[in-house]
Amino acid sequence: MMSPPAHIVICDDENGAATAGADLWLEAARKAVAARGLFHVAVSGGSTPRKMHALLARPPYLSQIPWLKTHLYWVDERCVPHEDPASNYGAARRDLLDKIPIPERRIHPMPGHLPPGRGAGQYEKTLQEYLPLSGERHPVFDLILLGMGTDGHTASLFPGDDSIPPSSGRVIAVKGGNPEVYRLTLNFNVINSARKVAFLVTGGSKAETLRTAIENPSADLPVQQVAPECGPTTWILDREAAKLLGKVHR
Ligand code: 6PG
Repeated sequence: MMSPPAHIVICDDENGAATAGADLWLEAARKAVAARGLFHVAVSGGSTPRKMHALLARPPYLSQIPWLKTHLYWVDERCVPHEDPASNYGAARRDLLDKIPIPERRIHPMPGHLPPGRGAGQYEKTLQEYLPLSGERHPVFDLILLGMGTDGHTASLFPGDDSIPPSSGRVIAVKGGNPEVYRLTLNFNVINSARKVAFLVTGGSKAETLRTAIENPSADLPVQQVAPECGPTTWILDREAAKLLGKVHR
């Protein structure tokens, strides 16, 4: 169940939401670098984050974000080649990575080219090598950015997915989504160990699911299992996505 109260930010449109996402990234990066010297961030795929990624690659963010001290990871990845249009890494490479001064060795794509089970195991090792670990040995991200599907999935954690192994798996392989391919995804235990978790959700097609996610705690949607131990989840929305939320949230 989602940890109340969520922090809800409603922007005028998609561009406003992208700017709010970029501002949150900048703030989290500055805070992490000041406190620990490095910033560990995990990004989602799909179409929603692309505007934010494009913004991050341009002034003023381009020079404000401590790219040299940033480690970049993925929340999930489709097991397709990087040049496939469905590749989350491929999209981020074009929108962001090719345009920022992040050291290549600090970019950590999920190994979607390996057999899925092995890829999940290998990524879990990567996370344990680079990230600070919690008491339960979960990697602790400074920021995890999530999206939400119209079915209430987040990352590649789909509703009613019986194939999801027990919560001990920190990175897991699942088959599903659109396109329906094998995917690697962070599990809820890792997401909920992050210092900051934010959803970026835009567009009227998500409005109904968003209302359910935020206002009906017993709906049992995957997004409702996001409950970071460190504090409330931030929801960055545009007006279209937020249009069905009760007044108390708007
Ligand atoms: C993915 C995701 C996924 C995504 C949602 C929303 O790789 O598919 O990370 O969880 O965030 O499906 O996708 P859109 O932004 O395309 O609506």
